[in-house]
Amino acid sequence: MTNVKNTHDVHLSKAVERIEPSGIRRFFDLASSMDNIISLGVGEPDYTTPWNVREASIHSLEKGLTSYTANAGLLELREAISVYMESRFQTAYDPEEEIIVTVGASEGLDIALRAVVDPGDEILVVEPCFVSYAPLVSLAGGVPIPVPTSMENNFQVNVEAIKERLTPKTKAIMLSFPNNPTGAVMGREELAKVAALVQEHDLVVFSDEIYAELSYDEEHVSTAALDGMWERTILISGFSKSFAMTGWRVGYVCAPAVYARAMLKIHQYAMMCASTMAQYAALEAMKNGRADMEEMVASYRQRRNYFVKSLREAGLSCHSPGGAFYAFPSIRSTGLTSEEFAEKLLIEQRVAVVPGHVFGDGGEGHVRCSYAASMKQLEEAVDRIAAFVKNYQN
Ligand SMILES: Cc1ncc(COP(=O)(O)O)c(C=O)c1O
Repeated sequence: MTNVKNTHDVHLSKAVERIEPSGIRRFFDLASSMDNIISLGVGEPDYTTPWNVREASIHSLEKGLTSYTANAGLLELREAISVYMESRFQTAYDPEEEIIVTVGASEGLDIALRAVVDPGDEILVVEPCFVSYAPLVSLAGGVPIPVPTSMENNFQVNVEAIKERLTPKTKAIMLSFPNNPTGAVMGREELAKVAALVQEHDLVVFSDEIYAELSYDEEHVSTAALDGMWERTILISGFSKSFAMTGWRVGYVCAPAVYARAMLKIHQYAMMCASTMAQYAALEAMKNGRADMEEMVASYRQRRNYFVKSLREAGLSCHSPGGAFYAFPSIRSTGLTSEEFAEKLLIEQRVAVVPGHVFGDGGEGHVRCSYAASMKQLEEAVDRIAAFVKNYQN
């Protein structure tokens, strides 16, 4: 490596300096340097994207469809998303004005926050939650205010906990059900209580519903479909999880035109548009992807049932995750912190899980295990976890 003489004082934005790199990465790096690892660490399907979807993308290349699309995405894709959202989740969006195809749900979250948040605005973030939320709020200039949930309460959002954190600066709340990392879902009744409070205080809701299809015990209820909520909800979703398309980087945001127009400004300058060939793949997934998706969902459900039961038999208390593909057992009975548990489990038993605290302070005392792994891997992982827990509980 050349030794470059440093003649430049580095100037980084305060916003970037304030945020930490993702806590999940450290475990991936450690695990990737070891042999015989069973990874329950990654938050992605263990399926390859179904062939017809891959083929649609190949065909788009063969046809030479290699230019930019409209900023908001292929109209045909937005139309398909519109039909899908209405038929699946009773949320109607105009494909011309109210839907934007994004570079994954990740970009959707970013432009949603940047379109709404002014410096100093407080954004309630229901925790434990996806690792991006608080950093993205900070990068948008806002102040993330954690609203804790707990296993005792099935990781449901408690209205009192929201009330306690409301201030004149509160502008919005970030919800995500089914939830990463807890797997919690919120039913209509519970969600309606939150909705009433949100309306009373005139908040915006960012609703990340990327796991909507992966709801195993009851139909997913979209926040935007509740009375009085459509007009104040920015719904973020995508293809990564339910269609096994993480690497394609396609997602979407649905919102009233006034919000969609604002998000489109950011999206058109920052991204121009999502990848054209990936959009053709997504279009095929929307049109002809249901059967494969349902098969995958049925398989996750089976694995969930097996894995959660086995974790309990191994001595860890675990609530029943109604959706996504994560179990979030309590590891308190071992006397270890979640970081110690994850590190020791990796070194001693070669099973990679993610310590709960990376999903917010409320995640301490838990670890996230993804059961989007083969049954064989899950069986082996459970044996190893059981041996580990036995050792520490005695
Ligand atoms: C809750 C949640 N939202 C968004 C994302 C990002 O999805 P995408 O791959 O579409 O950017 C993830 C990925 O793990 C997630 O768990």
